[in-house]
Amino acid sequence: MRQRGGADTTFPERALSRLLRRQRVEPPPTRHRLILGDSRDMHELCDGEVQLVVTSPPYPMVEIWDELFETMGCRTYRDMLNYLGEVWRECYRVLCDGGYLCINIGDALRRIDSAFRLFPNHAETIKQCEEIGFNVLPYILWKKPTNRPDAFLGSGFLPPNAYVTLDCEYILIFRKGRPRRFKPLDPYRYLSHYSRVERDVWFSQIWEVRGTRQESREAPRRLAAYPYEIPYRLVRMYSVMGDTVLDPFLGTGTTMLAAMKTHRNSVGYEIDASLLPLIWKRLGIKTKQTRTEGRVYEFTYQ
Ligand SMILES: C[S@@+](CC[C@H](N)C(=O)[O-])C[C@H]1O[C@@H](n2cnc3c(N)ncnc32)[C@H](O)[C@@H]1O
Repeated sequence: MRQRGGADTTFPERALSRLLRRQRVEPPPTRHRLILGDSRDMHELCDGEVQLVVTSPPYPMVEIWDELFETMGCRTYRDMLNYLGEVWRECYRVLCDGGYLCINIGDALRRIDSAFRLFPNHAETIKQCEEIGFNVLPYILWKKPTNRPDAFLGSGFLPPNAYVTLDCEYILIFRKGRPRRFKPLDPYRYLSHYSRVERDVWFSQIWEVRGTRQESREAPRRLAAYPYEIPYRLVRMYSVMGDTVLDPFLGTGTTMLAAMKTHRNSVGYEIDASLLPLIWKRLGIKTKQTRTEGRVYEFTYQ
């Protein structure tokens, strides 16, 4: 049976969720921690206290990140991958058994010593995470509808020396250990259900989601932010209300915003302090609403 607007009423999940709301089982208030620092060391977090990591790191060999990698002492492609690898290792430590790690990453295409080549960041990251101990799950191809049909890499119409355009990024999905277990009829799990339409779109392998604006008056550089829709879907797919979602490369705070809006707690690490005003603006939080201790800014959200 379908209601107006396409909502499906045949799901027991939906019926139970409505019942819980009638019984005034409310989503929980949530706690959010923004930590200005390097996520290669997340000592503020205990082992197993996070249920989901959603993030997008600086992409190795993509020019806008050259300066950051250089500052961090990374001189080669391998150094850059190892730098990120230290963060994936920390993610493994702080995730609970059955917790998920979702990494949005793109490959890089770059001319080195007059030769063009691909740097397969997604494949290297899968290898790294598998070595750390994660289970590798099917990934998502994020295809950004392009308004640049001229993005062709080559000249003219003559074979064979042109290159395929990189118009997909990857959303890699890993799990620590076996699937999580819940007590029967766990109320927050049922309140967190998705609809049939959401399930069919979100669990298909290709996502067509438009990118987001990459400039802001508050930011000193290009933002490399993902659109809200990406962490929003992942948070709804791989966590339940009251869980804790971590983003070790917070950037402008998109993941934290998705966690706040979906009744999850969150933790975000960001090394670049100049992004702070922009993050507060995006989250709609005033500095005086936060408690600060050392490099940790904390606030609650209802
Ligand atoms: C691709 S951006 C993340 C964008 C974010 N997903 C958003 O929507 O705004 C990567 C971010 O990671 C930060 N970063 C790089 N290395 C870091 C580290 N070791 N610890 C914490 N943040 C780091 C960069 O300063 C940058 O803001």
